[in-house]
Amino acid sequence: MTRAVQIAQTGGAEQLKIVDVNVGQPGPGEIRIRHRVVGLNFIDVYHRTGLYPLALPATLGMEASGVVEAVGEGVKHLKTGDRAAYASHPPGSYCEVRVMPAKTVCKLPDGIDFDTGAALMLKGLTAQYLLKRSQPQGGLKQGDFVLLHAAAGGVGLIACQWAQAMGLQLIGTAGSDAKCALAKEHGAAHVINYSKEDFLARVKEITGGRGVKVVYDSIGKDTWDKSLDCLAPFGLMSTFGNASGPVPPFAPGILGTKGSLYVTRQTLFTHIATREVTQSMAEDLFDIVSSGKVKIHIGQRYPLEQVQQAHRDLEARKTTGSTLLTL
Ligand SMILES: NC(=O)c1ccc[n+]([C@@H]2O[C@H](COP(=O)([O-])OP(=O)(O)OC[C@H]3O[C@@H](n4cnc5c(N)ncnc54)[C@H](OP(=O)(O)O)[C@@H]3O)[C@@H](O)[C@H]2O)c1
Repeated sequence: MTRAVQIAQTGGAEQLKIVDVNVGQPGPGEIRIRHRVVGLNFIDVYHRTGLYPLALPATLGMEASGVVEAVGEGVKHLKTGDRAAYASHPPGSYCEVRVMPAKTVCKLPDGIDFDTGAALMLKGLTAQYLLKRSQPQGGLKQGDFVLLHAAAGGVGLIACQWAQAMGLQLIGTAGSDAKCALAKEHGAAHVINYSKEDFLARVKEITGGRGVKVVYDSIGKDTWDKSLDCLAPFGLMSTFGNASGPVPPFAPGILGTKGSLYVTRQTLFTHIATREVTQSMAEDLFDIVSSGKVKIHIGQRYPLEQVQQAHRDLEARKTTGSTLLTL
């Protein structure tokens, strides 16, 4: 048996309940992993509210680090006793121990501890694919301007530093002056407090009226229209989240009138569909973290019993960087 955080029905944070569940043996292609630390992500909120539907009851959570306890038939890249971490479907990381598919579980390098492992996998692999695998026309070059919303968040602080390491001029938005300062410390070339400044006007000012090559927009409904207007001709709108609610349907014709724009809506789980791609993306992430060019900022930790508060704080925009649930 293990303690796990489940929802029996969708709704507010009060739906998160600690229950006891059975843990079985790993089948072919699976492992059993004993978690040390669990990562909290905004997708957990979408699962809880039902925006991204799950079969119920469901154990939430997509990210954790821990020690491999048992390995099923055919698993070659992990063995019992390995330190490992993952971002993965299906949900179920809010627990002490679980059985899960092995293909997206990666062995942690010696220099990366369990806290960092649980804080970096989902958010860092997302920053990796956004900056390196979802490219605008002509690719990204040193000096290019890009705009990233929620720059002081979990994905945000990693992406700020990685963009700086790539020589990009990242303009980061955040909801308070303190968050803007944090994003700047983490490599944002320019910051905009979008709760009091007009981010479109400021982007135009910073880029000399040209606009940016890519907008990375995880806010959705509240920022969509203005984000499109921040793009230079042929620019790429990379919409990847709905923190303020989903983007309403739109007519493709507006992409033409706003400058022959591109739009892509990607999800990490398409990228990490195979063991090979997951491993190569994870190695890129582990390398940049090991080099010190990307530091993982853990803004807050909550014991698993306080998971409801952790969700409330994430939704209330009170967190910065990565958030951990401790066991
Ligand atoms: N598609 C993918 O593959 C993928 C993968 C990972 C994450 N994501 C998305 O990326 C985003 C960031 O994820 P994260 O886990 O690192 O979260 P996070 O950025 O740490 O937290 C979300 C942030 O969004 C901002 N925000 C703006 N309007 C908001 C609102 N109405 N309600 C709540 N927050 C609001 C807040 O920052 P400010 O106060 O600074 O505005 C808040 O701190 C999420 O939208 C998530 O779904 C997508």
